[in-house]
Amino acid sequence: MTTGVFISFEGIDGAGKSTHIAALAAVLREQGRDVTLTREPGGTPLAEKIRELALNEAMDPLAEALLMFAARRDHLQQVIEPALAAGQVVLCDRFTDATFAYQGEGRGFDKAVLGQLEQWVQARPEGGIRQPDLTLLFDLAPEIAAGRLSGSRVPDKFESQPVEFFRKVAAGYDLRARQDPARFARIAADRPKEAVWQDVLAAVRRKAWLA
Ligand code: TMP
Repeated sequence: MTTGVFISFEGIDGAGKSTHIAALAAVLREQGRDVTLTREPGGTPLAEKIRELALNEAMDPLAEALLMFAARRDHLQQVIEPALAAGQVVLCDRFTDATFAYQGEGRGFDKAVLGQLEQWVQARPEGGIRQPDLTLLFDLAPEIAAGRLSGSRVPDKFESQPVEFFRKVAAGYDLRARQDPARFARIAADRPKEAVWQDVLAAVRRKAWLA
C-alpha cells in the first residue's frame, strides 16, 4: 500500500500559502493520490469550534496555547492519523510550528511548556511524535505581508496585530526551521505567484512524492 505523506504549510499571515495548497492538492490528485486537505486550528467539527474561540476571543497565552493543542489532538485523532494510515497525502494549512511561532515567539509564551505539550499531543503509540514529513515555510517580510492583508476581509485577532508582532512570529518560524532543517523547505514568497509555485513543486518533487 502507498505510504502516507504529511505536508504542512507555514508562514506569517499574508504570506500567500493558501492558493498553493489548493493547487498542490489538485496536482497530486491528477497523479492518482488521495489527498486530505485540512487546516489548523480546525479540520474537525470540534476543532473548528475551538478555532472560532481561539481566533476571536481575548485570552491569556496559556489558554490560547492549550486551545491550539486541544484542537490539534482532535484533528490528529479524527483526521490526520486515519488519513496517513490509509496511505493518503495530508496537506495541512499550519501545524505545531505555528504554535511555536505565534504563541511562543509572538506572545512570548514559555517554549519549554509548548515543547511538553507537543510531546503529549503528538505522541504516537509506536513511540516518538508525529511531525510533518515536510514543512513548506513561506518567507515574506512582515511589512509586505501587512500590505497584502490590508483591505482584505475583516481581520481576526491575529491578523489585526501590529507589524512588530509578525516580526516576532517570523523569527519564531526561522528558529524552528533552523532546529530541524531536514524537515523544512523555505519558499521565498516575495516573488510572482508562478515562481513561488515552481518552488513548491520542486520541494515536493525532491521528496519524490510527485512526478
Ligand atoms: P489562517 O487559517 O488564516 O492561517 O488563521 C489561523 C490563525 O491562527 C493565524 O493567524 C495563525 C494562528 N495560529 C496560532 O496562533 N497558533 C496555532 O497553533 C495555529 C495553528 C494558528
